[in-house]
Amino acid sequence: MRTLTLNNGVEIPQIGFGTAAIRDWQIDDSYVTDTILKAMAVGYRHFDTASVYGNERALGRAIKQSGIDRHELFIVSKVWDTEQGSETTAAFERSLERLELEYLDMYLVHWPVPAYTRETWQAMEALYDDKKIRALGLSNFRKSDIEQLATFAQVRPTYNQLEIHPYFSQKELVAYCQFHEMAVGCWSPLGTGGWSDVKTEEKPVTDPAVREIAEKHGVNAGQVILMWDIQQGRIVIPKSETMEHIAGNFDLFGFELSDDDLQTIDGLNRDRRLGGDPDTVHEQNLQVKVPD
Ligand SMILES: NC(=O)c1ccc[n+]([C@@H]2O[C@H](COP(=O)([O-])OP(=O)(O)OC[C@H]3O[C@@H](n4cnc5c(N)ncnc54)[C@H](OP(=O)(O)O)[C@@H]3O)[C@@H](O)[C@H]2O)c1
Repeated sequence: MRTLTLNNGVEIPQIGFGTAAIRDWQIDDSYVTDTILKAMAVGYRHFDTASVYGNERALGRAIKQSGIDRHELFIVSKVWDTEQGSETTAAFERSLERLELEYLDMYLVHWPVPAYTRETWQAMEALYDDKKIRALGLSNFRKSDIEQLATFAQVRPTYNQLEIHPYFSQKELVAYCQFHEMAVGCWSPLGTGGWSDVKTEEKPVTDPAVREIAEKHGVNAGQVILMWDIQQGRIVIPKSETMEHIAGNFDLFGFELSDDDLQTIDGLNRDRRLGGDPDTVHEQNLQVKVPD
């Protein structure tokens, strides 16, 4: 398994499994558990969830049922906007309870809320010092948010998980994070799941240039996009409920993209966000409750 070493020495598998909206948003049933078990059987060991996905219990059940040694797994969860500040420690404990775990491998601030970042991060630092979290990270943090954090953080963030796909490659922010030794994770690496209203034909996975490269290498378009991230040192967390995709998205090691291929995909950027925008999404996020 390919791994990256975070700036605190912890290793993270470069290919993870996204768990948002399996079947639907905030569904926590045996279908979700079975889908995660399929991913575990294929070989995934890194799982990306969040309190607001409402499926931490389903992931916890899959972990138990799989019989996989806890130390082989890399489990990531996130603190939601409504849980930031004085609520963060309790929110973390609830995530652990739902997952039936003793510790998390990584805990992320799901979205920047500058007014709360200091209190949220300090709560996370205390949990880190207490060995309840192996690595602290961010999600959707802009350059200004990272600069703000740097003014008080005692523990450096190891990771920033961002919307990244060929139509929204965020090159400058990625370079900034990597310069500051933060690993970069790509959410919606294939261009958003069913939770968004974006139509399949508007996603990079159907782009003719990507398809042409895929045909040349005898792989599918999703594999090409994920490899474009992997070869440039980024972490990917594709979500899938289709066995062929679950397996194919993990089986990325029989081919290599050329420099020309990478440049062609880089050239597809159109600064087109398909998901939420950290400049504006907070008010909307406050309307979304974390289920118990
Ligand atoms: N930090 C954040 O704010 C944030 C925001 C959004 C998402 N995320 C994380 O990122 C993960 C992935 O994001 P996402 O689910 O929005 O998008 P995604 O993984 O890019 O795309 C998922 C969609 O692509 C399809 N798909 C999967 N593999 C494919 C392939 N090889 N070829 C063609 N289509 C394929 C899936 O359908 P099938 O199921 O039929 O395969 C599904 O409809 C989430 O599950 C979550 O963990 C984080």
